[in-house]
Amino acid sequence: MFVVVVVTVGLLSAVHGAKISASDPLVNWTGRHVDNPDGTVSFDWLSVTARVHVTGASYLAATIVTTANDRGTRLKAYVANQNFPLYPQVQFWVSPNGTPAGNTSMLWLGHGDAAVTIENIVAPQYGTGVTTFVSFETDGQFAANPPLVPTIPGDKYTSRHPGSPPPPPLPARRIETIGDSITAATNVVRPEGAGSCGDGGYQSDWSQTYSALLCHRFGAECSTVAVGGKCVMRECGGLQMPDYFTGAFYKDGATPTFDFKWQPDVMVIDLGTNDMRAITKIGVNTTTGEGPGMDRFTEETVQFMKNATILYKKPDIQFFLTSGPMENTTYTGTVAAINQAKSAGLKATLIDMRAACASARLHAPDDSDQCDGCAGHPGIQGHYEMYEAAWPVIKSTMGW
Ligand SMILES: *[C@@H]1O[C@H](CO)[C@@H](O)[C@H](O)[C@H]1NC(C)=O
Ligand SMILES: *[C@@H]1O[C@H](CO)[C@@H](O)[C@H](O)[C@H]1NC(C)=O
Ligand SMILES: *[C@@H]1O[C@H](CO)[C@@H](O)[C@H](O)[C@H]1NC(C)=O
Ligand SMILES: *[C@@H]1O[C@H](CO)[C@@H](O)[C@H](O)[C@H]1NC(C)=O
Ligand SMILES: *[C@@H]1O[C@H](CO)[C@@H](O)[C@H](O)[C@H]1NC(C)=O
Repeated sequence: MFVVVVVTVGLLSAVHGAKISASDPLVNWTGRHVDNPDGTVSFDWLSVTARVHVTGASYLAATIVTTANDRGTRLKAYVANQNFPLYPQVQFWVSPNGTPAGNTSMLWLGHGDAAVTIENIVAPQYGTGVTTFVSFETDGQFAANPPLVPTIPGDKYTSRHPGSPPPPPLPARRIETIGDSITAATNVVRPEGAGSCGDGGYQSDWSQTYSALLCHRFGAECSTVAVGGKCVMRECGGLQMPDYFTGAFYKDGATPTFDFKWQPDVMVIDLGTNDMRAITKIGVNTTTGEGPGMDRFTEETVQFMKNATILYKKPDIQFFLTSGPMENTTYTGTVAAINQAKSAGLKATLIDMRAACASARLHAPDDSDQCDGCAGHPGIQGHYEMYEAAWPVIKSTMGW
């Protein structure tokens, strides 16, 4: 009852407060999204992020609609008001049209100033639909965002303490991550004690994946394009990641709707686990990882990288190809792809994630469940170890 009263007061005072459209220049969006002609902003890929700054406010709300039938995606809101850019945090589902909850979501309730970051943490394959932000509303004022800062202490671009001089502005850092279920945040949050579990969107949390941890650490603008069960290889049959890569939305499938105007500095590609289906069918020695199936995997990986530089009109994208942690056989093909890409003049570096699950807390009595998430996937610990394998390589390669 108490909560209902508070929310109602907030909504009533919204009438007298400030309201801006979702595509207002005061809102900073990153990730694959579309600015619609009517001022709304739509997306379905995970990791899409909006940053909004309010001053003299007691709340920040947003009008959000979804094409999903039962529930939309799950969003995470961070508030930078405790000397850390991403704390405290709340999560909420986007309600579908027609529910009594309506179209207004409270992103923050408090007092004073708040820099609020909203992230999409569920992959679109879980029936999230397309999410459309219509507007942001507050009883205070909207203000320009503070600069993005890395989340690690001691970085020259980070200033945590009130009264300390402002850090120098962080040069833009842009990371795009392409992957399968691991990158799509599938099965990350395994409930404590659960004997077995699946996803369906409930165990997904992009913010706890290696991709988000990298993004936050470096204070980067990030895009994540990932679909569970997918390959780089055509021979897997049906739509694969090179198809989805061209879409502004997952729902577009192979229709090339993305404009490729936002150019990444870094592209992390974490594919191979599902390609093993096609690699094995064509032929491979699983001990050595060699054979015509693996050669094909290498060729298509290099072709995908070449295509990305052409689509983005950016030949100097720094690629990071990862290996592991759900299988190790494609390591051979991934190393070969890096060598071939380099010979072709591309910038490519390996990130070895094969051991990321080695110290993760497994759940099956005989440790047969491969990693700490659901269904053999990396969970919170596995993803953290993937991130630990990745950041030093990216930092030294990029000078970040
Ligand atoms: C939610 O938004 C939709 C689309 O803009 C609109 O048709 C509907 O009336 C809204 N529902 C509520 C409860 O505000
Ligand atoms: C936010 O977006 C505006 C307008 O596009 C841009 O000028 C500004 O630099 C961005 N700010 C940050 C902190 O990214
Ligand atoms: C796979 O390679 C290993 C090591 O070279 C070799 O001993 C083995 O016979 C090969 N397996 C097949 C099926 O060719
Ligand atoms: C690369 O682009 C070509 C031309 O658009 C396309 O036919 C091919 O399937 C793409 N291959 C990969 C692996 O991305
Ligand atoms: C892959 O290799 C790592 C060591 O590099 C090992 O810890 C891990 O268990 C292996 N994974 C699989 C699925 O064989």
